Amino acid sequence: MAKLQLWLLILAGLSGALAQEDLYRKVFIFRTDPSEAYVVVKPEPERPLQNFTVCLRSYTDLSRPYGLFSYATKAQYSEILLFKPKPGEYRLYVGGEFVTFRVPSSHMDWEHVCASWESATGIAEFWVNRKPLPRKGLRKGYSVGAEAVIILGQEQDAFGGGFDFYNSFTGEMTDVYMWEYGLSPGKMRAAYQSLPLPPCLLGWRNLQYEVRGDVVVKPRLRESLII
Ligand SMILES: *[C@@H]1O[C@H](CO)[C@@H](O)[C@H](O)[C@H]1NC(C)=O
Repeated sequence: MAKLQLWLLILAGLSGALAQEDLYRKVFIFRTDPSEAYVVVKPEPERPLQNFTVCLRSYTDLSRPYGLFSYATKAQYSEILLFKPKPGEYRLYVGGEFVTFRVPSSHMDWEHVCASWESATGIAEFWVNRKPLPRKGLRKGYSVGAEAVIILGQEQDAFGGGFDFYNSFTGEMTDVYMWEYGLSPGKMRAAYQSLPLPPCLLGWRNLQYEVRGDVVVKPRLRESLII
């Protein structure tokens, strides 16, 4: 075993944290519909956030509502939530409030989204397949709590639980990232293209995660050599 891997294992053991993995070109497959399954990802921020960006790529044929990325604190279960109520629409929640972004329907293809928010103006950006949608605003002056539980594939209606299984995600998910700042437009596009990205809080190339239930890690099936 390589020294670095051994060291990471020891670190993981000492801190009670999870092992880390480079998930490059891999996906989480959430197999069942509806589903009790989810993935816990770490770490969570150490300080409250005035800015953040969340990006991920997903592929599904669901037409019912589903939660993709759910960041809950004890005080606010929808502290940050990426939710898709129906095809052609996303909701970004910050501090329990949400804005809706209408998106082109995806014609059964992977959809890459990046959502960012800054407290100073309350402005939220929402990028879909490297295209920025008209910006909206919410929760100006708010600060996103630290000490969070971050979950993929379900929406938390309690701290670390309270799932509605009919809002579970079924399908494939990859390239999940979170930054404690707003990404520049160039880096938003780089995330879509899977190009190298700036240092992140949590990221797909070095993800601490724990699968709970029926989620399988598999290589991504690639239909083309681009993206
Ligand atoms: C948040 O972002 C704004 C610019 O968008 C910046 O001026 C501010 O310093 C950032 N705050 C923190 C705590 O990083």
